Amino acid sequence: MPFRKTLAATLLSAAALFTLPAQAAGQLNLVCAADVKWCELMENEFEAEHDIDVNMVRMSSGEAYARIRAEARNPKTDIWWGGTGDPHLQAASEGLTAEYQSPKLEELLPWAKNQAEVSGYRTVGIYSGALGWGYNTEILGEKNIEPPKCWADLTDERFKGEIQIANPNSSGTAYTTLATLVQLMGEDEAFEFLKKMNANVSQYTKSGSAPVKSAARGENGIGIVFMHDAVAMTVQGFPVKTVAPCEGTGYEVGSMSIVEGARNMENAKIFYDWALSAEVQSKAEQADSYQLPSNANASVPEAAPKLEEIKLIDYDFAKYGDPQTRKALLERWDSEIGAIAN
Ligand code: G6P
Repeated sequence: MPFRKTLAATLLSAAALFTLPAQAAGQLNLVCAADVKWCELMENEFEAEHDIDVNMVRMSSGEAYARIRAEARNPKTDIWWGGTGDPHLQAASEGLTAEYQSPKLEELLPWAKNQAEVSGYRTVGIYSGALGWGYNTEILGEKNIEPPKCWADLTDERFKGEIQIANPNSSGTAYTTLATLVQLMGEDEAFEFLKKMNANVSQYTKSGSAPVKSAARGENGIGIVFMHDAVAMTVQGFPVKTVAPCEGTGYEVGSMSIVEGARNMENAKIFYDWALSAEVQSKAEQADSYQLPSNANASVPEAAPKLEEIKLIDYDFAKYGDPQTRKALLERWDSEIGAIAN
């Protein structure tokens, strides 16, 4: 059909005359619950390599879970990357996240694969790191305060007003701390401990890493955080020292999940496979993130705390990621600690 051909050719060349702004082939709505610097790096690098526009919003783990849950009937988020694994497991067991077996799974370390297996492939491990704290050597030094080595030290009155920790409702870091203390001490004893420590806590922050960022700035002496968040402060030149608690400590399996019913399902899978690759995980250090990557071939930052040198508890992820356990612990925290918090 010569006429049609001519018409098509005319339309094509007319289109070529307009230099239209580059339109991404698609969208991806990402909720990011790692450190904001790393979230931005992930957004920018993904956009640079794909014809997909990323709308990224950074929130803490508990907030991300609450958003995914609130959107369940009409999901706006496609993928949830980062943050502690417990709320990802909780979302998985509530059917809020989608089953997906990435071809990259076989490149992952056992703890990351395990996270996928126990959730029926509704979440997967992307990084890991142990809990501890960072203290400002100058603040404690000036006040002549002996730094804390053990969880038990944190209730000592020498730390009055010096400690910051996040609120476990919003923060996965703080929820991991709560679950760790329960596993180390027993539940009643852990709440007794938290009540005593409350006398030393100046602020319960929303985000998990905020306590050590303010310790680095000299606003408080100690921030209870993941050890890699304290290390990040030291690497950036702040007078912060990292401690692995003497009694032992818990750890996170930072996770990623695709939202069930995601509108941009194919793009979410493209991001998922990409985020599990060794190349992408090796970039974390550029964003001052010192977790252990889940891809066995990714490079481990030199400054990353070495799990084999830390006394780790056998953290029960299935139990503490279970909706009933998590809900009950958070309710008890609200009534016994939140109620007396400053
Ligand atoms: C920091 C850590 C991450 C952790 C996250 C949890 O960003 O570097 O390893 O997963 O905190 O954040 P949240 O605010 O939920 O405690």
